[in-house]
Amino acid sequence: MNGCRGMITLNHVTKSYQEAGATRLVLNDISAEFGCGEFVVLLGKSGSGKSTLLNLIGGLDTPTAGEVLIDGQSLTRMSDHERTLFRRRHFGFVFQAFNLIPTLTVEENVMLPVELANGHRPTSAIARRAHELLASVGLESRARSFPDRLSGGEQQRVAIARALANDPLVVLADEPTGNLDADTGKRVLDLLDQLTRRAGKNLVMVTHSEEVIGVADRVLRLRDASLSTT
Ligand SMILES: Nc1ncnc2c1ncn2[C@@H]1O[C@H](COP(=O)(O)OP(=O)(O)O)[C@@H](O)[C@H]1O
Ligand SMILES: [Mg+2]
Repeated sequence: MNGCRGMITLNHVTKSYQEAGATRLVLNDISAEFGCGEFVVLLGKSGSGKSTLLNLIGGLDTPTAGEVLIDGQSLTRMSDHERTLFRRRHFGFVFQAFNLIPTLTVEENVMLPVELANGHRPTSAIARRAHELLASVGLESRARSFPDRLSGGEQQRVAIARALANDPLVVLADEPTGNLDADTGKRVLDLLDQLTRRAGKNLVMVTHSEEVIGVADRVLRLRDASLSTT
């Protein structure tokens, strides 16, 4: 594993749903290994199972069969409680709809993952780090604002700062530019790429848009419930 952290291993991962008496196979026996300090794009059409796969990688969901491992540690074999703790400590999430907590200020949103992972109220060190992160996304002056005062692009920049707050092994982004206009989306994408690279993190981003292929280190395609590297 040549020293990198946050390596993702999919070991015969299958996910199916029962619907109206029928089985719907979304991911069919997928095996792959990726994410050694790289920017990985998971490309696939709407409904191809991208969010399903990302949620499995991030421990938000568990496979029907097979196993997901991070640095050789099986998320699948953990209890729900262990997986929750692991997720809080080691993953950062960026979602299409930003998912900021509306009743918390911008800085409180950025500090929240650290509070959850550590189980205590923010210390001055945590607050300092939140401000550094907000500065890195150009929003230090908005620290005391509530999310609904910010534009979509600004909200997503806050979400990026939040995703990096607990110094995660892996940042997982699900269509992070999906709710933004093209120019804003490009800026958000560049920022996500820059900041995760600078921090030496793996970034796994899900999208249906071929436009991002150029910036990725690796592109994986999801089609017909299978993952291919071409
Ligand atoms: N909880 C669920 N129950 C039943 N079907 C689901 C569930 N979640 C996702 N699906 C189905 O799995 C397929 C893949 O969904 P999803 O992973 O959201 O695709 P994508 O993110 O690529 O658009 C879709 O057909 C969707 O309807
Ligand atoms: Mg999706």
